[in-house]
Amino acid sequence: MSAAETGADARILWRMACGQPRHGDHAARLQAFYAPQAAHYDAFRERLLRGRGELIDKLEIGKGMRVVELGCGTGSSLDRMGPRAQLCASIQLVDLCPALLAIARQRATGHNNVEVIEADATRWQPPAPVDRVFLSYALTMIPDWEAAIANAVGMLKPGGRLGVVDFHIPSSGGAFASGFWRRWFAHDGVHLSAAHLPTLLSHLPDAWTDERRTPLPYLSGLQAPYYLYVGRRAEAAKSVSVAR
Ligand SMILES: C[S@@+](CC[C@H](N)C(=O)[O-])C[C@H]1O[C@@H](n2cnc3c(N)ncnc32)[C@H](O)[C@@H]1O
Repeated sequence: MSAAETGADARILWRMACGQPRHGDHAARLQAFYAPQAAHYDAFRERLLRGRGELIDKLEIGKGMRVVELGCGTGSSLDRMGPRAQLCASIQLVDLCPALLAIARQRATGHNNVEVIEADATRWQPPAPVDRVFLSYALTMIPDWEAAIANAVGMLKPGGRLGVVDFHIPSSGGAFASGFWRRWFAHDGVHLSAAHLPTLLSHLPDAWTDERRTPLPYLSGLQAPYYLYVGRRAEAAKSVSVAR
């Protein structure tokens, strides 16, 4: 690793060690936490937030689709979509943090089908139902995560898919490890829960899930639990005309 990369890591780690500020509303706390690390956000999170590319693959994003990401951060999912992004009818990237959205806007330059929107994931709705909606390591940072899930499900077309990748408390996790991870992440405003995955499944039970663990940068030997989820909204029931 170069001296510049080590310096960038040190700045991110210092921010994380300081934790998320406790003053101001949710949007103000996000901005205060992320603004000083926005320029180095992508490089560090590449080693921290696993499974994001796989989630995009599992969503099977294709030609003509309308796609929404809630809690998009810097919009790096556009890079993971690659050429698939150009095939979409529209991609709407939604987040509450202006510092990260500024980077998402730079990334979206030249993509005529991409819109970057400053809004709350628990309330914002697209103008028409969408084919895909996903949250990548955002649910754990949204205080009213139940509202965010209900909002995401509510914007799906029949047959549409909701994807989530995030850290969590696995049902099989020991009490000590679960308590450690809960406290470690909460310092930075990331609230792990054992209820996220069951709630997703209760909304859209026709789903693929996988629970895993990943090493974290600078925490050798420790593996944080995360999951992937892709749920499908039921197709609209076909109306059957009955001959009389
Ligand atoms: C850990 S970052 C993940 C960003 C991006 N999805 C990624 O994979 O790199 C969590 C994101 O959720 C956003 N966020 C938190 N609460 C939000 C809310 N209520 N509405 C919209 N975005 C929110 C934060 O601003 C932040 O960009």
